[in-house]
Amino acid sequence: MSTSPVSLPGGTWTLGDLTVTRFGYGAMQLTGPGVMGPPADHDGALAVLREAAGLGITHVDTAGAYGPRVTNRLIREALHPYPAALRVVTKVGAVRDEQGGWPPARRPEDLRRAVLENLEDLGLDALDVVNLRLGDAQGPRPGSLAEPLEALAEMRREGLVRHLGVSNATAEQVAEARALAPIVCVQNMYNLAHRQDDALIDELAGLGIAYVPFFPLGGFTPLQSTALSAVAARLDATPMSVALAWLLRRSPNILLIPGTSSVAHLRENVAGAGLALSEEDLADLDKIGR
Ligand SMILES: NC(=O)c1ccc[n+]([C@@H]2O[C@H](COP(=O)([O-])OP(=O)(O)OC[C@H]3O[C@@H](n4cnc5c(N)ncnc54)[C@H](OP(=O)(O)O)[C@@H]3O)[C@@H](O)[C@H]2O)c1
Repeated sequence: MSTSPVSLPGGTWTLGDLTVTRFGYGAMQLTGPGVMGPPADHDGALAVLREAAGLGITHVDTAGAYGPRVTNRLIREALHPYPAALRVVTKVGAVRDEQGGWPPARRPEDLRRAVLENLEDLGLDALDVVNLRLGDAQGPRPGSLAEPLEALAEMRREGLVRHLGVSNATAEQVAEARALAPIVCVQNMYNLAHRQDDALIDELAGLGIAYVPFFPLGGFTPLQSTALSAVAARLDATPMSVALAWLLRRSPNILLIPGTSSVAHLRENVAGAGLALSEEDLADLDKIGR
């Protein structure tokens, strides 16, 4: 049975010239444990991707490093030929080592290899959006991004990439990137409990640049807080719904890419993110992470 598109909470946003639903899908956790290897349930992973597209989600976030090369191939198997409106946003700048680490790979030749590999695995002639992933697993690290960003800008001029973004970046790096090339999105860690980018989000909103929080639900350690549970109980909703609704309301330039390997959770998240939050709810949620 196929799913019919629903009215997704949050409406749409435009990345450069590409319109996406603000409610997107993050595909990282479709792999095996530790974001390595194939999923335990291959058909289940395909079902989640098809459900996302069937619900009308047009923003899928991925990376060649997931698996590595697992998530992209699942996306291709599940959805190619892609629905006309679907946009796949990928990232380059890190690879995987045998221990499952994420060493940087940001020399121009590394980035070109990564872009070509993404194109091959996704079955595309051009990538809609490529994020340059900076920093490391502990977060952003200061330093110039000029060389890797120029390399991606060159691939954009060649037509291999439509739009550029940066990820795991400091505010200074975002400013440096904007001075070098048009930037359509910034993907950093941000959620109810981690609000270090508040000023950056507001600045980007004024510039028409999307802010795409990764780990919107807390990532590998899902958000847990007494205040969140209390607001959720009052609204007869799940904490995940409240966390997503809060992000959608936080700023119009926030795009959601919650991850899940479960069709039921995907449906629950789509239904829950449209939750209306009162001033009292927002005040209570403001106690989290402060
Ligand atoms: N740029 C970067 O450096 C970077 C880093 C990390 C992630 N990302 C991107 O951000 C996306 C989102 O991050 P994420 O998936 O790691 O973390 P997340 O969206 O914060 O949380 C995903 C976790 O929440 C669980 N979950 C989802 N919906 C749920 C529900 N309704 N009830 C209970 N549990 C639920 C999932 O488990 P189930 O599978 O059981 O639902 C999964 O364990 C990734 O897919 C990836 O595309 C980017």
